[in-house]
Amino acid sequence: MKGTWILSWILIVFLSTVAVQSQYYSNSRPYDPKPEKVTNLHFFFHEYVGGQNPTSVLLAQANITSNNSTVPFGTLYVVDDPLRTGPEPDSEEIGNAQGLLVVAGINSTAVVTYLDFEFTTGEFNGSSLSVFSRNPIIWAERELSVVGGKGKFRMAKGFALINPYFMNATAAIHVFNVTVIHY
Ligand SMILES: *[C@@H]1O[C@H](CO)[C@@H](O)[C@H](O)[C@H]1NC(C)=O
Ligand SMILES: *[C@@H]1O[C@H](CO)[C@@H](O)[C@H](O)[C@H]1NC(C)=O
Ligand SMILES: *[C@@H]1O[C@H](CO)[C@@H](O)[C@H](O)[C@H]1NC(C)=O
Ligand SMILES: *[C@@H]1O[C@H](CO)[C@@H](O)[C@H](O)[C@H]1NC(C)=O
Ligand SMILES: *[C@@H]1O[C@H](CO)[C@@H](O)[C@H](O)[C@H]1NC(C)=O
Ligand SMILES: *[C@@H]1O[C@H](CO)[C@@H](O)[C@H](O)[C@H]1NC(C)=O
Ligand SMILES: *[C@@H]1O[C@H](CO)[C@@H](O)[C@H](O)[C@H]1NC(C)=O
Repeated sequence: MKGTWILSWILIVFLSTVAVQSQYYSNSRPYDPKPEKVTNLHFFFHEYVGGQNPTSVLLAQANITSNNSTVPFGTLYVVDDPLRTGPEPDSEEIGNAQGLLVVAGINSTAVVTYLDFEFTTGEFNGSSLSVFSRNPIIWAERELSVVGGKGKFRMAKGFALINPYFMNATAAIHVFNVTVIHY
């Protein structure tokens, strides 16, 4: 008799635990934000198309007849571009930007960027920024939005100001000045 009672209690406790665990969300509670910091990042974004070691390659292209542009609408590139402290190809590499560039302007040369900037040295080694924006590549100064981040850049928000530094048929180097607000 006593044994049955104990068994029943074990069963009740077990079932109520299962009921709590089977809920896929926690109780909502007031959000208690940590004090935010602002960090400025300054680096050079190196992109090489073609050649021996391209860092940007054509992945897919729509078959459209009005294809007179060198970067026609409906073109998708995958990139793994090094980030360096200077414009020289042998300056210190501090990270890389991986992701997609989509030529998404029908009558303009707008490129939509979907990039993850990961840093591999210093204070932010292993941390990354998620950058997503339309990028009208004909403007001199451009701006991309920082929509999130990982590691030391958790909950990041901010913006990147970009200026072209050097360009030829196979290489493009841009200066990035990023303002990041993060934990
Ligand atoms: C590309 O489009 C043209 C014109 O519409 C068509 O003749 C051709 O077969 C298409 N090519 C492919 C690979 O789909
Ligand atoms: C579009 O034009 C580019 C540059 O001339 C060329 O490399 C590419 O093959 C063309 N794409 C299509 C689908 O015709
Ligand atoms: C593409 O170039 C051809 C020849 O120069 C021209 O006739 C045509 O209108 C152009 N197409 C577009 C969409 O600009
Ligand atoms: C692109 O330009 C053509 C010709 O000027 C126009 O008919 C068309 O509506 C434009 N498309 C967009 C998405 O702006
Ligand atoms: C960056 O972090 C990785 C992984 O923790 C480590 O292997 C590497 O040595 C670090 N690099 C620098 C320059 O601190
Ligand atoms: C473009 O510049 C890069 C870096 O200076 C150089 O290595 C490459 O040979 C140049 N390409 C052309 C086509 O001039
Ligand atoms: C980077 O941008 C910030 C904010 O827009 C500005 O205050 C700063 O002077 C810029 N730094 C460089 C090196 O351009």
